[in-house]
Amino acid sequence: MSFPQHRPRRLRQSPAVRRLARETHLVPSQLVLPLFVREGITEPAPISSMPGVHQHTLDSLRAAAVDAADAGLGGVMLFGVPAVRDAVGSGADDPRGILNVATEALVAEVGDALVVQTDLCLDEFTDHGHCGVLDARGAVDNDATLERYAAMALAQARAGSAMLGLSGMMDGQVAHVRAALDAEGFTDTMLLAYSAKYAGAFYGPFREAVDSQLTGDRRTYQLDPGNGREGVREALLDVDEGADVVMVKPALPYLDVLADVCAAVDAPVWAYQVSGEYAMVEAAAANGWIDRRRAIEESLLSIRRAGADAILTYWAAEAARWLRADL
Ligand code: PBG
Repeated sequence: MSFPQHRPRRLRQSPAVRRLARETHLVPSQLVLPLFVREGITEPAPISSMPGVHQHTLDSLRAAAVDAADAGLGGVMLFGVPAVRDAVGSGADDPRGILNVATEALVAEVGDALVVQTDLCLDEFTDHGHCGVLDARGAVDNDATLERYAAMALAQARAGSAMLGLSGMMDGQVAHVRAALDAEGFTDTMLLAYSAKYAGAFYGPFREAVDSQLTGDRRTYQLDPGNGREGVREALLDVDEGADVVMVKPALPYLDVLADVCAAVDAPVWAYQVSGEYAMVEAAAANGWIDRRRAIEESLLSIRRAGADAILTYWAAEAARWLRADL
């Protein structure tokens, strides 16, 4: 009888051996929780396509951030849902706008324990739902949008945001915002560039989360799902423009892009497990078709395995508590 020469199963024989042989680890500080705050509501409003996720009031937002700090998370990413929208997204750079007011409140509450980050994009604030301002033909005007982003960046920095999440996919946005911040003395405000952000179906539930009225799509500014090298190119450009961290988004359908970006850049690389990824697992679990906890843990570990240094995920607080309990 001839025996197998190689027995990889030896390293899988018991929980203790598997634990020691595991290549990839996830810890709570690598998780960032996205949070939504809505102007003008008195009770948190559930988001039906994202069971367990809410649009917060200022009070419930503070409580969620304290909970995130208790869970040991690395940070929170804040999105604002204004009561009134207009063509240029005026609420975005208004110091009394909901996102800026909420940022101040969160920084005061948990600014020492968590990296408080803010979404820097116009889609939550425009009445047409696009990530920028429109030109006379109705197309998103890249360079006019950069001016709006610079104003928004200054408002967020003044409100105390530690890290601005540039998610609008305008060309030159990182360099433009960096220069605007530096000129006003905000040299320590960090920039998280959503560099490889793909135009696809997985942001569907997010539209409900921010009550977005988008007509049309984002294909003239977000990446085509077929393009991997272009995602790497965008990340290289953003590092060159001064991004502190680059990001790939969505996560699970783009793990190849994530791995390629990690190989190409010397900056930290994060990934965003987006609303549609969340909704798929929650819906399957609610039907009893999938083991919810194992699916969540497996998806997060897969994103880490592909190379992400940190992950934005709506499961951040819950997953962090599982991780701590497992220690
Ligand atoms: C832009 C932004 C979006 C998301 C994060 N920032 C929406 C979009 O680009 O369409 C999506 C996040 C998610 O789906 O969970 N403000």
